[in-house]
Amino acid sequence: MKKQKTKYICSNCGYESLRWLGKCPDCENWNSFTEEIIENNKQKFSSTVTSVTAKKISEVSSEKEIRIKTGIAEFDRVLGGGLVLGSVVLIGGDPGIGKSTLVLQASSLLKTKVLYVSGEESAQQIKMRAVRLKVKSDSLLLLPETNLQTIMSVIKNENPQVVIIDSIQTIYNDNLENSAGSVTQIRECTSLLLEDAKRFNYSVIVVGHVTKEGIIAGPKVLEHIVDTVIQFEGDTNHSYRILRAQKNRFGSTNEIGIFEMHETGLTEVKNPSELFLSERDKNIPGSVVTASIEGSRPILIEVQALVTPSNFGNPQRVTTGFDYRRLSILLAVLEKRGNYRLSSANVFLNIAGGVKLIEPAVDLAVCCSAVSSLLNQVADNNTVVIGEVGLGGEVRSVGFIDKRIHEAEKLGFRRIIIPQNNMKGLKVTSSIEVIPVENISEAIRLVLR
Ligand SMILES: Nc1ncnc2c1ncn2[C@@H]1O[C@H](COP(=O)(O)OP(=O)(O)O)[C@@H](O)[C@H]1O
Ligand SMILES: [Mg+2]
Repeated sequence: MKKQKTKYICSNCGYESLRWLGKCPDCENWNSFTEEIIENNKQKFSSTVTSVTAKKISEVSSEKEIRIKTGIAEFDRVLGGGLVLGSVVLIGGDPGIGKSTLVLQASSLLKTKVLYVSGEESAQQIKMRAVRLKVKSDSLLLLPETNLQTIMSVIKNENPQVVIIDSIQTIYNDNLENSAGSVTQIRECTSLLLEDAKRFNYSVIVVGHVTKEGIIAGPKVLEHIVDTVIQFEGDTNHSYRILRAQKNRFGSTNEIGIFEMHETGLTEVKNPSELFLSERDKNIPGSVVTASIEGSRPILIEVQALVTPSNFGNPQRVTTGFDYRRLSILLAVLEKRGNYRLSSANVFLNIAGGVKLIEPAVDLAVCCSAVSSLLNQVADNNTVVIGEVGLGGEVRSVGFIDKRIHEAEKLGFRRIIIPQNNMKGLKVTSSIEVIPVENISEAIRLVLR
């Protein structure tokens, strides 16, 4: 018997190699290679195809794509205004984060025929969840199935407008020899669904688990196939969940959707600033509020620092929700330009609420909170601090200043510290006191008064 040819594929990014590798040269993941059979069912290129012709761009119809609203405003916002007919959306996230909950809630709110294919749960289990979530819908069809051919034939017969596949790792194509969950199966099944969805003009939401161990192939291998990639993140210790678009052919990737997980399902967070500031203790040194732009929305977030003397040679720096290297740079700037003795102190920095801040606009708040904790002086709790910090200790301008000021004002803050350069062209009509600063020392003096 002829020996089957195999290759090794990185289950995180899809990198292929003829031999097993411990570390993926592409995505640098360890232990992510799995052996897969090389499939030979690709049709050979044929030169006899002549019926296809190219079209002039002027002849192509410019009708806007048709969108269907999911009925969950935060979800629609991340999608760029709703599901586009004929598109495939991938929702990735850790197991247990709430992907099935989200798609079940959305499918009941969609005012159209939805086919929910579950490869993980039986129809009864989904029904039980639907009862818990108080979800009712007559146009929602359940199909517990893992065979792609069967799924496709049900799609053909039922003709739904939206198909949900939960999850792609459990679906398999009969024609392939690899097992369900392998990179080849995941890719092939998704491509076939995409092709079908484009031809018959329905939308597909594909759910994909992400595993850090790389045991099951990650949704990363699908990123270039699908139209939209959405990441559902959150800390299982917190009830907030954030929906973030990583790729979107039909909208911006800057938008985020914020939810809270309850026993009765996910609820939308309409005013995230209020939620993130709700547990703030205003009288503790090291707490400073900043305004970060997430997508097109400003969100007020509390930055917390704890600075303690270090008894050992190597002081610790630990961050949650903020870049570790960025913190080191800011501490060095504070030491050199402000004379604050931080190089021999342990610094712990936390962005409250499990949010990740990547914007440089929060630099100044990080500096102020570190100094507030170092000096054990409470920062003024009615002030919002915004600004990027340069290596010279100068405060640099940031984008969307109007939106940030407006949000701070809306939440009842009385003062906002902003970069001097942002004052150009700024029409200050608001009741909040806007104070421009040029460097970190000025800002610290104003905050710790
Ligand atoms: N009976 C329950 N009461 C409250 N929360 C629940 C209950 N059952 C599940 N959950 C919540 O739902 C989450 C699982 O959601 P699910 O949509 O199944 O996740 P995923 O599909 O991403 O694996 C759990 O982590 C938990 O927070
Ligand atoms: Mg699930």
